[in-house]
Parts: sequence; structure tokens; C-alpha cells
Amino acid sequence: MLARQRIHEIVHEYGRDVLEHERMRIEKHCYQHGAVTTFEHSVRVACLAVYFADRLHLWRHVDLRSLVRAALLHDYFLYDWHYDGDGSHKLHGFTHPRRALTNALHDFDLNPVERDSILRHMFPLTPVPPRYIEGYLVTMADKISATRETFSMARFSKPQLDPVPARLALTDGSESAQKTNDGDDEAEHQEETIR
Ligand SMILES: [Fe+2]
Ligand SMILES: [Fe+2]
Repeated sequence: MLARQRIHEIVHEYGRDVLEHERMRIEKHCYQHGAVTTFEHSVRVACLAVYFADRLHLWRHVDLRSLVRAALLHDYFLYDWHYDGDGSHKLHGFTHPRRALTNALHDFDLNPVERDSILRHMFPLTPVPPRYIEGYLVTMADKISATRETFSMARFSKPQLDPVPARLALTDGSESAQKTNDGDDEAEHQEETIR
């Protein structure tokens, strides 16, 4: 059985390029659930997904690198969904997996397992289930982490985060929305190819 330290090492080993990507830093400036940033949440989901793969003895059935990368990128939507001035995040729960996939495809080369696991991680809120075991591990780890984070007492005393540095583009706003819409077409195409 893998120890907690080893699980952290695996996540940082297989997810190094994701964790060190400049746009991943946006996630450190946005809360996801409670007092946990999207970056922290993503690392937690990756660690928990690896933990489940280990404890459920799934090593022969799981591609570890894909599992870690899909978990780290599952919420790569790159905006703060708590601020909804123009109403564009009203359907965040339903729309953010596609936004995350669009952004991830812009910044990384993703295999079909990673793409599908990101796009389907909100199942059953979004009706199409994951196609791969990695996707089920990500969605299970995500729900458990999100529940823990949301109901943590720390949410009552969370500090104000520094704003996102101007040079790191958020994916909402008019200019980048155009870019994102273009990317949505790509995600749509990618979605077709992984069916
Ligand atoms: Fe999500
Ligand atoms: Fe999540």
C-alpha cells in the first residue's frame, strides 16, 4: 500500500508539467470550495484518485500518468466561479468541464483517457458517464474532496486571495471568451473523436 508521502511524490512526478505551467498559477488565485483554492483542490483530487487506485488494487487497469494529469486538469476552467457579474457562470456546474478541456487542450497534449476524464468528471450532473476507469476515479475523488472542502469550518475564516496577475489571462471576459468559443469547437471535435 502506498504511503501518503509516496502518493504526493507520484502526483508531482507525473504531473510536473501541469503543476509548473504558468496558467496553472491562476488556480492559486481562485477559491474552489470553502477555503480551498482550485489549485489545492486539484492536487487533493489527484492524490485521492491515486489513493483509490492503490487501495482498490487497480494498478493493472489504470494508466497512472493519465490519471494524475486528468485529475490535475479536471477543473482547469481558469476563472473564479463565485464572481458572476455578467451572469456567464450561472450554469458553471454544467459547463465548466468543457471549459476545462478547452483550456487544457490549448496548453497540453492530452490523450483520449485524459480528455474523456476531464469532460465527464461531473457525471451524473452531466449525463454522459466517463468511458475509462481513470474517469470514474477522478469523479469519485472529486466528489469526496468537494464535500469535505465545502463543509470544512475553515470556510468561515478564509483569507482574501491576491488578484490574478494581469499577465495571466483569465478565460472569461470578452476577448478571451472569443478565444474560448473557438476552443469549444475544438473540444466539441475532440469529444466526437473520443466517443
Ligand atoms: Fe469540476
Ligand atoms: Fe473539482
